[in-house]
Amino acid sequence: MTIRVGIVGTGGISRAHQRAYTQVGGFEIVAVCDIIKSKANEAADKWGVPRKHVFTSYNKMLEMDEIDTVSVCTYNQGHRRPTVAALNAGKHVFCEKPMAATLPDATAMVRAAKTSGKILQIGIHSTFNPRLQFAKKVIDEGLLGDIYYAESTGGSRRRNPGRTFIYKKTAGAGAIVDVGVYNMHDSLYAMGYPKPVRVSAITEDYISQQDPQFKGIMDVEEFGVAWVRFDNGGVMVFKISWVVHQDSLGPSFCLGKEAGISLNGPVVYADAYTNDLKKLVKSEGLTAEANPPEGMTTIQFSGFPEVDVWQAQITAFREAVKTDAPSPILPEGVLLTNVIMDGIFRSHAAGKEVTVNVPEI
Ligand SMILES: NC(=O)c1ccc[n+]([C@@H]2O[C@H](COP(=O)([O-])OP(=O)(O)OC[C@H]3O[C@@H](n4cnc5c(N)ncnc54)[C@H](O)[C@@H]3O)[C@@H](O)[C@H]2O)c1
Repeated sequence: MTIRVGIVGTGGISRAHQRAYTQVGGFEIVAVCDIIKSKANEAADKWGVPRKHVFTSYNKMLEMDEIDTVSVCTYNQGHRRPTVAALNAGKHVFCEKPMAATLPDATAMVRAAKTSGKILQIGIHSTFNPRLQFAKKVIDEGLLGDIYYAESTGGSRRRNPGRTFIYKKTAGAGAIVDVGVYNMHDSLYAMGYPKPVRVSAITEDYISQQDPQFKGIMDVEEFGVAWVRFDNGGVMVFKISWVVHQDSLGPSFCLGKEAGISLNGPVVYADAYTNDLKKLVKSEGLTAEANPPEGMTTIQFSGFPEVDVWQAQITAFREAVKTDAPSPILPEGVLLTNVIMDGIFRSHAAGKEVTVNVPEI
């Protein structure tokens, strides 16, 4: 079975979708759509899509029975409408990250996936990193005990992407939704999607506003920090930057009552290298070095497979479509990133901690 794909938005990231579909195999791009006709034509010609299947309206494109799945590659403010329309038209959707620019948009998308029964996978490729997958298994096995504190960190010292990413009108927000969504999702996913209940945050744009390229035109944040409380009593500090006067805002980690883990290694910090962890290491085909071997120890792991995370996420999407099984990246889980982000912007505006609610789906 070849999965027939229609692509909405033929800008920068659509090329990565096309490349991954080709590398993974089992897909054929049969239609493309962009509001800028020349961009859609150019992509169609490059990808062998006939001109009769080039559209400037995704609603027209969705009338094609020959489309099984849709890649949504529009800027963030343009994710909701084509996604909901495609799901309602009976197509599965692979939508770029972040799920949406706003919480109401993300909620509408998850609801459309539920009512249509179709798959909605969000392109958070970092979650497919085998190191994160192993860290999740360590947590799922209960080897850290209850997690009472986590830090979720990402970003860079100087990487303002410019273009459509710096305007609320197109992107909705800045570094938090653009790159923060990766580490925020990965931390929530690893911890089993704890339910956020309160958020206190700041967002800033000081450095970009001193840069003549962005001064006065950029209306989104370059930096954000949040303190997120979960209903299980745990807390997560979230930090992200496009631009900051630091090389790094530190690693992402989780502290449990039994042990701690740095997600980026991963590295486990424990009072002993337990038999349960040894068993997990063996079953995953990894090797571990505990230093010191006895007593309070730091355990590093090696032997992770080399995985192209782009191909891994498209392979997962293909298998979900083929077997009609849920995607491993559940939209209800990704929705929590929008719940927290919504809280971040409201908290910054209010100058105080705010309550957040996970919408009923
Ligand atoms: N996964 C990644 O590594 C990664 C990297 C970059 C961007 N992204 C995400 O991909 C999305 C797009 O980013 P980009 O860099 O390709 O942006 P872009 O601005 O280069 O491309 C967006 C395209 O969508 C088109 N478009 C907008 N509204 C449309 C509509 N209603 N119908 C059809 N076409 C429409 C625009 O004309 C444009 O060609 C963003 O959500 C971004 O966060 C992901």
